[in-house]
Amino acid sequence: MSALRVQNLSKRFGGLLATNDVSFDVAEHSLTALIGPNGAGKTTLFNLITNLFAPDSGVVEFNGISLAGLSPGRIAKMGLIRTFQTARVFPGMTVLENVLCGRHRLLGHGLFENMMWLPGARAEERRLATQALALLDLVGLADQAERSATDLPMGAQKLLEVIRALMAQPRLLLLDEPAAGLNDTETAELASLLRAVRACGVTVMVVEHNMSLVMTIADHVVVVEAGGLIAAGPPSEIQVNPRVIAAYLGEEPV
Ligand SMILES: Nc1ncnc2c1ncn2[C@@H]1O[C@H](COP(=O)(O)OP(=O)(O)OP(=O)(O)O)[C@@H](O)[C@H]1O
Ligand SMILES: [Mg+2]
Repeated sequence: MSALRVQNLSKRFGGLLATNDVSFDVAEHSLTALIGPNGAGKTTLFNLITNLFAPDSGVVEFNGISLAGLSPGRIAKMGLIRTFQTARVFPGMTVLENVLCGRHRLLGHGLFENMMWLPGARAEERRLATQALALLDLVGLADQAERSATDLPMGAQKLLEVIRALMAQPRLLLLDEPAAGLNDTETAELASLLRAVRACGVTVMVVEHNMSLVMTIADHVVVVEAGGLIAAGPPSEIQVNPRVIAAYLGEEPV
């Protein structure tokens, strides 16, 4: 079964058809890259998949269940977690607190136990902090845990956002340009993190402009241009696809 099935999805903003009858599948446990020139409609697709915007037409299924009409919060609780193109760390919180925020949807204890800070809640919080630090360590940020998150360089903030998304224990993780603004070391850390995430059985879909990163980490590539899907397949096919090459060179498709 596909982790994600997008069928005939369309979305119009005024006169602009931002998503034009797009269909694709994301295989379970795969790492799929979503690529396309600026303004092609990649972020819009993520916004439609997570119901931040309702589609004009079309269906999105997550593990065979239609997401039509479900709130973004409900979709997140089902295990479909996304990050945003612009890093959104929470100001006024430390790096560790930011990561812990990713887990709140899953806290096993009720409001009463948490408010009263009963032993169960305290033990849970300690367990989560250990997990959060282990995840931060994967991207070299464990020693920054007590720093204010907004004091981190932009690249580190982007990595922090991915770590926070992982704390939510996604079944499907949608990452919108996680490598934008990362230096070479951070990009390499991100690549190995994403490989590790996939190896843990999490399905990943990532919007990415860095083609060498896409070609090294993705199993499958979905390409959009001007709102429409123009190609989908393994990286080896996509990088020699004339329509894809033309889209990136800004030429007419051949
Ligand atoms: N809420 C909105 N209202 C009106 N137009 C929008 C809205 N969101 C996106 N668009 C338009 O839809 C088109 C697709 O935008 P989108 O952000 O999805 O592209 P993208 O592929 O993510 O681009 P980039 O690579 O620059 O992030 C653009 O022309 C954009 O201006
Ligand atoms: Mg975008």
